[in-house]
Amino acid sequence: MDPLPSEVLEDPRYTVPHCPEAEHGIGWLRGRVPRFSEGAEHTRRRAVLERTLAGLDVRPGAGGQPPAALLAAMGLSRELVGEVAAAAAAYQPHTSDRELTAAADDAVERLVVACGDRSERTAMLICILVQAHAGLTAVAEQRRSGRTGPPIPVTRRVAPDGREVLVDLSEAPFGRGAHACPGEQLAAVLAATESPQR
Ligand code: HEM
Repeated sequence: MDPLPSEVLEDPRYTVPHCPEAEHGIGWLRGRVPRFSEGAEHTRRRAVLERTLAGLDVRPGAGGQPPAALLAAMGLSRELVGEVAAAAAAYQPHTSDRELTAAADDAVERLVVACGDRSERTAMLICILVQAHAGLTAVAEQRRSGRTGPPIPVTRRVAPDGREVLVDLSEAPFGRGAHACPGEQLAAVLAATESPQR
């Protein structure tokens, strides 16, 4: 099926996949973040996330793998980049690979411990790390391959008839509408200074 145009991202009848609440692991993360929520809950979580992001003193050029500068700004060990990568690998709810999901569950739990508690702030910090990792890794892979176009070619929405559809990001590389990327400015700086993970 051909991806739908990015206007769909501003059509409230097309929603992000719903993720049920879970007590731990990647399911817990998905159930707490703006990325997989809609309506009033999305608005509230998005405001918390933006405040959290604005409160981080990110020093680009801290170097290393994406998103090492963000880990440093959060006061977390840069050695957690592997946990961030593992969580990012199974962040999207359509991930069906059981090994990736199990590794992501463990990684999220280690990140929760590192953040100090299982709070909303912790969910926002991990959300920022994982989303940034996904975006920056896509940019790095694109640079390596020489591919043109948006770093993340498509995203997903649930159509009014309940089917999951792909949405083309050629015209909106950072998304659009309520779920548009809140890290676009920071992404440009980090992508220029952080080296890709291998
Ligand atoms: C060049 C790198 C990046 C690219 C290409 C990118 C791209 C995107 C896109 C396309 C979306 C929309 C997804 C959708 O509507 O389905 C998105 C959402 C998001 N991005 Fe980024 N992003 C990048 C870097 C970052 C960074 C550095 C951060 C954090 C510091 C970040 C945080 C987020 C968050 C939290 C969302 C979800 C927003 C919501 O659902 O309300 N991104 N990003």
